Amino acid sequence: MKILVTGGLGYIGSHTVVELQSEGHEVVVVDNLNNSKIVVKERIVGISGKTFELLVADVNDTEALDGLFQKHVFDGVIHFAAHKAVGESVDLPVMYYQNNVSGLISLLGAMEKHKVSNLIFSSSCTVYGSTEVLPVTESTSIQRAESPYGTTKILCEDIITDYAKHKKFRSILLRYFNPVGAHPSSQIGELPLGVPNNLVPYITQTAAGIRKELTVFGDDYETKDGTCIRDYIHVVDLAKAHVKALEYSTKMSQNVDVFNVGTGNGNTVLEVIKAFEKASGQDLNYKIGPRRGGDIEKIWADTAKVSDVLGWNAQYDINDMMKHAWSWQIGLEK
Ligand code: NAD
Ligand code: WQD
Repeated sequence: MKILVTGGLGYIGSHTVVELQSEGHEVVVVDNLNNSKIVVKERIVGISGKTFELLVADVNDTEALDGLFQKHVFDGVIHFAAHKAVGESVDLPVMYYQNNVSGLISLLGAMEKHKVSNLIFSSSCTVYGSTEVLPVTESTSIQRAESPYGTTKILCEDIITDYAKHKKFRSILLRYFNPVGAHPSSQIGELPLGVPNNLVPYITQTAAGIRKELTVFGDDYETKDGTCIRDYIHVVDLAKAHVKALEYSTKMSQNVDVFNVGTGNGNTVLEVIKAFEKASGQDLNYKIGPRRGGDIEKIWADTAKVSDVLGWNAQYDINDMMKHAWSWQIGLEK
């Protein structure tokens, strides 16, 4: 298939381009480099041995998209392009609605005009909010979002579901849990700008001496060691789920389907730190601090549906995730 990947130079997009190419699909990428670097293209080509066309443009640029859809006949689109920082979205909500929601609408406009009918969308477990029912299944109710970022994911899911009902359209919404790690080659990974908000880049930057110490946000939660539980998923496994979803989207009977993408296992913050220490062979400088506002106590995925329907299961465990995250961090400093 010939696939358009929006945001294909970003963290999850770059790993997905590699997996698409290794499965024999042709890829075209549109990315405005808002949160990525052009060098990622060379890195992807270095891993896969296959080149691809890159258009540096904003998905909100309807003329640029139109030109791209005129030039290529796409069999499907994977839409990663979006802003993703929860805290930033609280300060700059309009920028988030504009980029994430208008960006999707602009893309749907191009897909409609050029009769492209398969879309894989990057959603998030953030749509479940804080839930008592664990693990969460795809039918666990969606809660009002706590941040504008979360609102954009719910709105985009709604727009796609609504649009698909009235059109000959096939879309899969993938709700990612916590993507971490990097490609085993250490050639691509996450490039957090400034001080990271997420746990794993904060851990690796602390171990590398870029940050003084990690603060564990709270150890008085109702969990086995008092720290929060998340379902961490290796970015390469997550990338592979997109290829499965894409292939399934061409033969599914309903217009829209939704899948959780996680490992099905929850790990506490202290377990992640221990796994990191084991993988890196060094002690991490950390302290216990107060809870972070807005944090959910515990969440992990029920992965029965993604396993049964897409035939996808995570291959990497938390130790692999930490090993690859650390190799990537070391490589960044060279
Ligand atoms: P990322 O920031 O690394 O990648 C996004 C890419 O999209 C970047 O290369 C950026 O330059 C590009 N981009 C952003 N806005 C654009 C626009 N208007 N036009 C063209 N390109 C644009 O983020 P990521 O972690 O790879 O996330 C990819 C998607 O997955 C996002 O939609 C994000 O919301 C979603 N998601 C991420 C996580 C996570 O923890 N990383 C979890 C759940 C869902
Ligand atoms: C994980 C755990 C923190 C940093 C976010 C978004 C979510 C999704 C994934 C996009 C929590 C703890 C963290 C630190 C810590 N993204 N922590 N010290 O909050 O689960 O999810 O990313 O869709 O929408 O909200 O991920 O990596 O920030 O935190 O103790 O310095 O690590 O309290 O328990 P989170 P995270």
